[in-house]
Amino acid sequence: MALKVGILGATGMVGQRFIQLLGKHKWFSIDALLASERSAGKKYSDAASWYLAGDIPAEVGEMEVQKIDAAIVEKAGLDVVFSALPSDIARKAEAEFAAKVPVFSNTSTYRMEPDVPLMVPEINPEHLDLLKIQKRERGWNGFLVTNPNCSTIGLVIPLKPILDSLGIEWVNVATMQAVSGAGYAGVPSMAILDNLIPFIGGEEPKLETESQKILGQFSGNVIKDADFDIFASCNRVMVRDGHTEAVFVKTAKDFEVDGVKDIFRKFRGEPQRLGLPTAPEEPIVVMDAEDRPQPLKDRNLGAGMSVAVGRIRKKSENLLKFTCLSHNTIRGAAGASILNAELAYKKGLLKG
Ligand SMILES: NC(=O)c1ccc[n+]([C@@H]2O[C@H](COP(=O)([O-])OP(=O)(O)OC[C@H]3O[C@@H](n4cnc5c(N)ncnc54)[C@H](OP(=O)(O)O)[C@@H]3O)[C@@H](O)[C@H]2O)c1
Repeated sequence: MALKVGILGATGMVGQRFIQLLGKHKWFSIDALLASERSAGKKYSDAASWYLAGDIPAEVGEMEVQKIDAAIVEKAGLDVVFSALPSDIARKAEAEFAAKVPVFSNTSTYRMEPDVPLMVPEINPEHLDLLKIQKRERGWNGFLVTNPNCSTIGLVIPLKPILDSLGIEWVNVATMQAVSGAGYAGVPSMAILDNLIPFIGGEEPKLETESQKILGQFSGNVIKDADFDIFASCNRVMVRDGHTEAVFVKTAKDFEVDGVKDIFRKFRGEPQRLGLPTAPEEPIVVMDAEDRPQPLKDRNLGAGMSVAVGRIRKKSENLLKFTCLSHNTIRGAAGASILNAELAYKKGLLKG
């Protein structure tokens, strides 16, 4: 029988992706939708400004949105909770839910806490073992697992095989991030139409520090951050979905471009080995055409779960340049959380 799922922040951009991706999931069923007081008590179809293609699934549209209250866990018999809440309210709300059931969160609030796994299953599945420490320190009956910021995930996936094969001395990255990354009411159309905004509040430190935690080594007690510097410059561009990043890497060992393409093409992780339902066959899709990847054409590769990498060039000895693209609300948000939950399920950490 499918595990019963609640979605916190169900009416937002990420919440809608959860509904779309969980709609036909074989291990999870949607049993509760929660959002702000503004939406509570309304039918989902009246509360949400649905931004995805196609209609709201009929059975979800009829469900009543609840206010954020952990009492729903017992009331609806929830087994698992996915969170897409704003960071300012997540601290209290996610802790109240994690005290009862496993929570998989998109929110930045707990990502950098030492006992909270910040997971990308292809990269650091062993970080899930942090949950033993979390349980001991927090005394929760459930637990909390986070996934990274939407620009971090598109960067760390291609960095992982480079780190393992060539070593990394430093990384420089300039992002071009879609408007959906800021949430439904995030960027006013008059600010972004015909424009680019060379600043996204709080984004650069997230990209820099989260990447080091994800690519860090877990000793069994603590995570030791990866020891290379990352310099990020983040920009909002007039794209609906899909974050593109221009990346410059100083490698420790020299390389040939074809060798790097091969490293990317061969990269696989735990989700592919375990055959997790949301895992893309190819975590990295290498593009040879000189004008790819592009958000409009390539963001849905691997059902939105693959990272497209192109423009792979060698500038000089040990200096690699490439462009990567990932879907910010799928691989960068809801899909990432669901893949984390699938890994936890396979590892026997969820009921059922
Ligand atoms: N968008 C992305 O690409 C992306 C990627 C990775 C991570 N994230 C993170 O995921 C979270 C959600 O992002 P989003 O883009 O989905 O934002 P969003 O479109 O603004 O949606 C926010 C959701 O939170 C609810 N909410 C707002 N204030 C609340 C309150 N005071 N109490 C309870 N619920 C409240 C909203 O409900 P109402 O509709 O009732 O207001 C809505 O369901 C954020 O922390 C964001 O940083 C987003």
